[in-house]
Amino acid sequence: MTIPLRNTDFAYGLVSQLFHWLIVALILFQYTWAWRISNVEGFRARFELVTQHKTIGMVVLGLAVLRLVWRLFNRPPALPDHMARWERLGAHAGHWLLYVLIFAMPLSGWLYSSAAGLGDYWWGPVNFPSLVDSNEALEDLMARVHQVLGITLGVVAVGHALAALRHHFWVRDDVLKRMLPIWRKQ
Ligand code: HEM
Repeated sequence: MTIPLRNTDFAYGLVSQLFHWLIVALILFQYTWAWRISNVEGFRARFELVTQHKTIGMVVLGLAVLRLVWRLFNRPPALPDHMARWERLGAHAGHWLLYVLIFAMPLSGWLYSSAAGLGDYWWGPVNFPSLVDSNEALEDLMARVHQVLGITLGVVAVGHALAALRHHFWVRDDVLKRMLPIWRKQ
């Protein structure tokens, strides 16, 4: 059984699935690191964790750009007919909100790090330039924004995951299966 790279009328293709689950895994990593950063003792250990958090954040941002481009040229499969109008609206709004948050999280972190005066961020040969001059008021604001966005993303993502599980175990339709590389309806 081969899974098509592109989305079909019935299921997400392999590329969309890879983007989805890779970004989920990296976002879970980011929450774990955020927790570790706020609990670690010592400047060096903290600096190391923050650097790793920034690196993965930039990877999420890059993947988000590629994912959005892929999404624009790959219509997702239509939602099942039995879903009510409000459910469809909720699903579409939730998906677009998740896209916005996947971009907003790393961008707010980048701005936060810039305002904190940490300077250009080099990742191997790649340079992510400082977006603004060091600015304490902006640093405090972005710390808050990054935190509130993180909580919002967590709440929306958990709601989204519960909705997917409800489809699978309660409604018993194919919505979850079509985001997994195990099932194909041709
Ligand atoms: C950080 C966590 C998550 C984020 C940011 C996220 C994001 C997204 C986005 C943006 C879409 C829309 C894809 C598109 O149509 O282009 C989507 C679809 C989907 N997600 Fe997630 N997701 C997350 C976690 C999960 C989890 C844990 C599950 C399963 C329990 C899940 C199941 C699904 C399913 C089944 C779809 C396809 C829905 C459909 O067929 O319309 N997601 N996700």
